[in-house]
Amino acid sequence: MEPSFYVTTPIYYVNDVPHIGHAYTTLACDVLARYKRARGFNVFFLTGTDEHGQKVEKAAQAKGETPLELADRVVKRFQALWEKLEISHTDFIRTSQERHKKGVQNLFRKIQASGDIYLGDYEDWYCTPCETFWTETQLMEGNCPDCGRPTEKLKEKSYFFRMSKYQDALIRHIEENPDFIQPRSRRNEILNFVREGLRDLSISRTSFSWGIPVPEDEKHVIYVWFDALTNYITALGYPEYEGNFKTFWPADVHLIGKDILRFHTVYWPTFLMAAGLPLPKKVFAHGWWTVEGQKMSKSLQNVVEPNMLIEKYGVDAIRYFLLREVPFGLDGDFSHAALIHRLNSDLANDLGNLVSRSTAMVSKYFGGSLPSPGPLQREDEAFIGRFPKALKLADEQMDELAFNKVLQTIWSLIGDANKYIDDTAPWMLARDKEKKERLATVMYNLIEAVRLIGLLIAPFMPETGAKIESILGNDPKNMLLADRDAWGGMKPGALIQKAEPLFPRMEKE
Ligand code: MSP
Repeated sequence: MEPSFYVTTPIYYVNDVPHIGHAYTTLACDVLARYKRARGFNVFFLTGTDEHGQKVEKAAQAKGETPLELADRVVKRFQALWEKLEISHTDFIRTSQERHKKGVQNLFRKIQASGDIYLGDYEDWYCTPCETFWTETQLMEGNCPDCGRPTEKLKEKSYFFRMSKYQDALIRHIEENPDFIQPRSRRNEILNFVREGLRDLSISRTSFSWGIPVPEDEKHVIYVWFDALTNYITALGYPEYEGNFKTFWPADVHLIGKDILRFHTVYWPTFLMAAGLPLPKKVFAHGWWTVEGQKMSKSLQNVVEPNMLIEKYGVDAIRYFLLREVPFGLDGDFSHAALIHRLNSDLANDLGNLVSRSTAMVSKYFGGSLPSPGPLQREDEAFIGRFPKALKLADEQMDELAFNKVLQTIWSLIGDANKYIDDTAPWMLARDKEKKERLATVMYNLIEAVRLIGLLIAPFMPETGAKIESILGNDPKNMLLADRDAWGGMKPGALIQKAEPLFPRMEKE
């Protein structure tokens, strides 16, 4: 049986419309999902929306609609954007769905039955935008330490989760599984936090009603983070163990932004421990984007709207830029100038020129029919030898989620291929009839290089990958690398089209 691979995005709040921050997390998951599929894995790629909670209830009130009406409306915007961005998710979960509700209540009951959920009194400082309670000492001058906005003192009856009980087990788990929390620096941050001591966690609210009711005590709704995190298993059919849950749980990686790391590496694992369920194998927190050097915010009116970007630059250019520009895990800055620079130099020049020069020469010198290669010379062997090495390296880098490094590896092959053209100078060989066989060898090697490069870039740029495949006369739907990553996949005699430029150059504004 093919190995399975389960990757998730966070589920997005519906009180905001999608921006490049959301697109970024989802894109990264998509690249990973596509790559793993190409490598022969049975992939489940989950995304969705987080629809409950006071924030959404308030946003809906302000608009004069029900929370579900608001959710229905905003969900469409996410779904439409994912389609445009060519996101290849397997499932889209909405926390307002019945399948989710059933699973959340089941998990609640299960933990309650084990004695780790109890009813108590809750009083603390609450930040509504962040849906988080803070202790007095955590506040920053009375305000929320995360977002800086004012907090209010709230007291209510609440169900508590005995999180404190799992402190030692969690520390042990993090210590024994160095890859559980990534990048490294984040792992230390969480370890320090847990070592300072875990308090029991309030996991129900009575102050609003838009949420999943606590089983047998409907005055309470289940805390949004308990509700939201559980999506990762309810989408697999939990509490049903057979089927997807059995195949895909535990997740291979939860991909998230750094702002929600604690929920994923402290709350979620302890809930799972209490329910006797296995923990996800890895949680990876990426950095945040600023825009032209500033924090993205509605009040600054600098929120970058992905649909506009796609229209202006094309979907593959955006996908490429976001994953190439910044090492995954670090913060980065989005600017139009940087995007245009990458588009012109990496895409139009390096990649675009390689494909158009190579295919144009096969047209010109061989009427578009791929010739058979003759004997190899040393420079050919060196060039060809770069491919298995780079493929292996890219595979390792992909496992580390070092997307920018994978792209660097692929671009070093593109650089080698362009250099191979310059070194072998096919236009010189073409002048001499005696050198026809040498020219054929060079052309074959070039086109074969383009084929492998096309397959490697396809997870990042699916349109371009498919375009390259069809230019070479291959099936653009078959992006498998698994059994097609060895040198020599192109069949002599294949009809090669002369490629139109893949990426037009853009002027800086
Ligand atoms: N609903 C919760 C997640 C629940 S998961 C069980 C949530 N939603 S969110 O819509 O606010 O954010 C979703 C993701 O978008 C987070 O991973 C967050 O880091 C990411 N981003 C939001 N703004 C961002 C940037 N400016 N830059 C990069 N990513 C950002 O949190």
